Amino acid sequence: MSAKLEAIGLEKRYGDTLALQATDLTVQAGEFLTLLGPSGSGKTTLLQMISGLVAPSAGRIEIDGRDVTLVEPGKRGIGMVFQSYALFPHMTVRDNVAYGLRMRSKTRDEVRKAVDDALAMVRMSDYDKRFPKELSGGQQQRIALARCFAYRPSIILLDEPLGALDKKLREHMQGEIRRLHKELGATFVYVTHDQDEALTLSDRICLMNDARIEQIGTPADLYDRPATRFAAGFIGHSNLLEGELAPTHSDSGEPILLAGGGRIPLPRTATLSQAARHTLLLRPEALRLVDAARGFVDGRISDVVFFGSDTRVQLSLADGSELVARCERSLSPRIGDTVGLVWDPYRTTLLQA
Ligand SMILES: Nc1ncnc2c1ncn2[C@@H]1O[C@H](COP(=O)(O)OP(=O)(O)O)[C@@H](O)[C@H]1O
Ligand SMILES: [Mg+2]
Repeated sequence: MSAKLEAIGLEKRYGDTLALQATDLTVQAGEFLTLLGPSGSGKTTLLQMISGLVAPSAGRIEIDGRDVTLVEPGKRGIGMVFQSYALFPHMTVRDNVAYGLRMRSKTRDEVRKAVDDALAMVRMSDYDKRFPKELSGGQQQRIALARCFAYRPSIILLDEPLGALDKKLREHMQGEIRRLHKELGATFVYVTHDQDEALTLSDRICLMNDARIEQIGTPADLYDRPATRFAAGFIGHSNLLEGELAPTHSDSGEPILLAGGGRIPLPRTATLSQAARHTLLLRPEALRLVDAARGFVDGRISDVVFFGSDTRVQLSLADGSELVARCERSLSPRIGDTVGLVWDPYRTTLLQA
């Protein structure tokens, strides 16, 4: 793989507001990279600097190894799709999709062919004579995608494109966007604040927080090995356990002592000295319920929530901390019961304090 897009020391200030701290980011050719983070974390600012719509305060942008920092947006070979479809209301679907192509002074036959291909790709070929107001929200967003794809940009930037759609349609369109990414072979940079969307779509996720990159990696990296508490909390449910090292490790017991009693094993990837300064992260699906006093630690079931495919059990430990465990429905957990908890030390990880 080769670098398609590179941000080097890219920074943006608005007066006293630092919208993006000096940021380095490399996106590989054909990659699907998602900028994920809470509102205000700098996702749109980063995307708009890549597009050229916003000028950086410092740093530079390279596409295919060429510095494009001063190149105007229309000449970067980049397509953009926003949450608001921004279709022209007085133009038919065909004219909306053709608009950018005509601006690029293609011949009539070239334009017709490119529009036909783009509409087929988003499965809207039969709608070419309609006006935007005659389409549903999901259909309008397909047309916005077709308009972007029609001139075959090698980089496509999408800023919360599914944000205005309801849950069911959003999930369907996520599948469509995955398919389109494969078909086009273009490099996608996709912005969302929805962790499930990011996990579903991405080759890599760039997690943003407070105007900087918090962590970057594959969806599995971020879920299984979050580097910080913020990353652990933003993606998936995280159970956090605080403990201290047992005074002596010479006995056969597990090395970490929990405040409310119980001794637990060290994550297999960690050393004892690390454990002294870190918090243990346990994902709900890594926990297993066993009989009381048979696990590393006991917990009292304080709530049971039915989720369809499985059941989530909330547990209170002796030190007052709360954990969520996923369990099979056949176990029929009951509120008030005390149970033991075990887990695989390979499936736990330490977080920096
Ligand atoms: N044009 C602007 N003028 C002043 N401040 C801005 C402007 N655009 C963004 N900001 C500020 O920059 C920060 C990052 O914004 P943004 O990139 O839009 O975040 P996100 O897309 O992650 O929600 C926010 O604090 C926002 O208020
Ligand atoms: Mg935004």
